[in-house]
Amino acid sequence: MYLTKEEEKLLNGEHGPAFQKAMEVLTALGDIYGAEKLIKISSSHLSSVAYASSGDTGIRFLERLIEDKATFKVLTTLIPHSIELDRWQEIGFPCEFAKKQLTNIAAYKRLNAIGTYTCTPFLVGNCPRYGEHVAWAESSALSYINTVLGARTNREGALSALCAALIGKTPFYGLHLSENRKGTILAKVETELTHGSDYSALGYTVGKLIGNEIPVFTNIPTDVRNSDINALCAGLAVSGAVPMCHILGVTPEISNLKEAFRSERPKDKIIIGRDELTNTYGECSTNGSRAKINLAVLGCPHYWYDQLIEVAELLKGKKVHNDVDLWINTSTSIMQASKRAGFIDVIEASGAKVMCGYCPAVTKNFFGWETMATDSTKQTFYGYGVLGVDVVFGTTKQVIDAAIAGKWG
Ligand code: F3S
Repeated sequence: MYLTKEEEKLLNGEHGPAFQKAMEVLTALGDIYGAEKLIKISSSHLSSVAYASSGDTGIRFLERLIEDKATFKVLTTLIPHSIELDRWQEIGFPCEFAKKQLTNIAAYKRLNAIGTYTCTPFLVGNCPRYGEHVAWAESSALSYINTVLGARTNREGALSALCAALIGKTPFYGLHLSENRKGTILAKVETELTHGSDYSALGYTVGKLIGNEIPVFTNIPTDVRNSDINALCAGLAVSGAVPMCHILGVTPEISNLKEAFRSERPKDKIIIGRDELTNTYGECSTNGSRAKINLAVLGCPHYWYDQLIEVAELLKGKKVHNDVDLWINTSTSIMQASKRAGFIDVIEASGAKVMCGYCPAVTKNFFGWETMATDSTKQTFYGYGVLGVDVVFGTTKQVIDAAIAGKWG
């Protein structure tokens, strides 16, 4: 891979060991994927902020970077972590664990990261423009910016995104190149999508069928909510490794099917109807005949304003069952604006909690939960796999009704 003189110096360690290591990772990736050179990025979005996933080793790693006087060279934001940021004591996260999480956060701050702690950083100031090159981790967020904003990122891992943030560059391969962004599978939607959870189910269904191909969706209404496309992208990335999709009327780099497929024939055509989605609703539920729930999770990906408004309307004047934690995840910025607008008070008057900076997929089951209800296929995947709970997947209203009744259905 071609390197400029300055990049050679970084690789030779003339700017210190942290930048040298970062260059070693980036050049190794570039060589593996046949990149000709490194290109500048305007931002990075990092995963591995959660103490539950990165542990003490993660903290030591960050402290080494600080000792080596490393800082991030571009706008760098962070995904959610393992505790509620401001109310962890009140909610009951264990003190020792929370302190470790706060140590991890403090280290990222010293490296110059912005503490957004969200999987929707494009809503809170990290919003790349059309055609801009970035290096993002977090599969739903990176898919959303490729699909809806027309920004360009590969599906970065925790380490590659961090190294790119340190150098301010990434290898020029994959989705940074126009030819690799073409659609490969035609996905015809032949059912009405009536709930946010339908989009999550659609993504999960298609991702499972196509792996890491790029689908081109037809028949998705052009007035679809952005939060629903966000749910679609999250579903695509959890059952498959889909880094972006094309949606006619939404994705800015295409104006018709011919452009989406770059005048080539799709490798395959799939049709998704109501039966397929119904199967996914069943497949993503592991609760069997068990109706009782003790955890209800909304906000995966982190909820947008319109979704919080919907929840406030559904919870107005109601009470969450004493045996159920109804937790709704979002970013601090979205929560604060929503609080000023009045709908956080309506939500929390019911006993539900709006959780900031938190993700149930990167924490532990500290509260003895056994069964979780959620409107997100991505959350069912991690609820079962990480929290070790049985899961039941349904619409936002079904989840809220279950939280109020203490049982599903
Ligand atoms: Fe966000 Fe966590 Fe879901 S990072 S997309 S809330 S699994």
